[in-house]
Amino acid sequence: MKVFLTRRIFPDALDALKEAGIVPTVWTERRGLSRQELIEHCSRQDALLGIGAQQLDSDFFKACPHLRAVVLHSVGFDHVDIAAATAFGIPVGNTPDVLSKATADTAFLLMLAVSRKAFFHHRRVTGGQWNFFEPMAYLGRELDGNTLGIFGMGKIGKALARRCKAAFGMRIIYHNRHRDLDAEEELGATWVSFEELLQQSEVLSLHAALSSETTGRFDADAFGKMKPDAIFINTARGAMHDEAALRAALEAGQIWGAGLDVTNPEPMNPENPLLHLENVAVLPHIGSATLETRKRMAAICVENLIAAARNERLPYLVNP
Ligand code: DGY
Repeated sequence: MKVFLTRRIFPDALDALKEAGIVPTVWTERRGLSRQELIEHCSRQDALLGIGAQQLDSDFFKACPHLRAVVLHSVGFDHVDIAAATAFGIPVGNTPDVLSKATADTAFLLMLAVSRKAFFHHRRVTGGQWNFFEPMAYLGRELDGNTLGIFGMGKIGKALARRCKAAFGMRIIYHNRHRDLDAEEELGATWVSFEELLQQSEVLSLHAALSSETTGRFDADAFGKMKPDAIFINTARGAMHDEAALRAALEAGQIWGAGLDVTNPEPMNPENPLLHLENVAVLPHIGSATLETRKRMAAICVENLIAAARNERLPYLVNP
């Protein structure tokens, strides 16, 4: 089986593919490949190891008649039209679970960074503006005993809730379509309506999948209902928040601050005014970027590809 990889992966994962008789072709250029380039490569391949958010839709599958499997190096699959893949008989695999803790850590990091304006202060230090100690300057706010609101209580949301409860004794509320009894039992979490989530959260963190229901859900109306000391965290997908509305809410003091690991588009334009606000911290989509997690993700991709090469069911299959 021939597989096209849209980025390099760990050498041991690549070796494992070769040992299984899979022939990899790796995109090694230091730029993203265009859709046309992706199609040109994939039209000659049996499988794709997709690293990144290239849109895979029905036109793509039509243009790649030999594709037998799409294996994603991510838990999210919002960039893939799963119904179209299924219609073309193409199994799609992802990397669930293994990145929950690392992504929760990133959300936790952003919460703290925003509450203490850490990125802004770092810029002051590197900009030579650390002048003297001032008792009433550089003030942040504490998270102890705050209410954490989780939008999308799944594995990542639970991992964050555990951290926040243990570290700051936070009260946990969440909004899902359905109640999560495990979260309620383990974390004492309370299901609330979307309105209540907005109104009660002192930290509101997004952990839902991107869908038509969640796209643009955090708009001017939503930010307008949040508390003035609320911290908004998005480590899920940038398309869930309206960036102009977020900026307006931050500038008007409607909310305390925002920590983003995901933006829309990605990468964020370095001229983006959000980057200059003292109450904003932005990271370049590094939620799962730890050595341990990325190795586990690569290993799952290898498992999925080997199964595809053997015409077996992918162990981490997304298609219904
Ligand atoms: C994921 O795994 O979905 C990460 O956000 C990378 O896209």
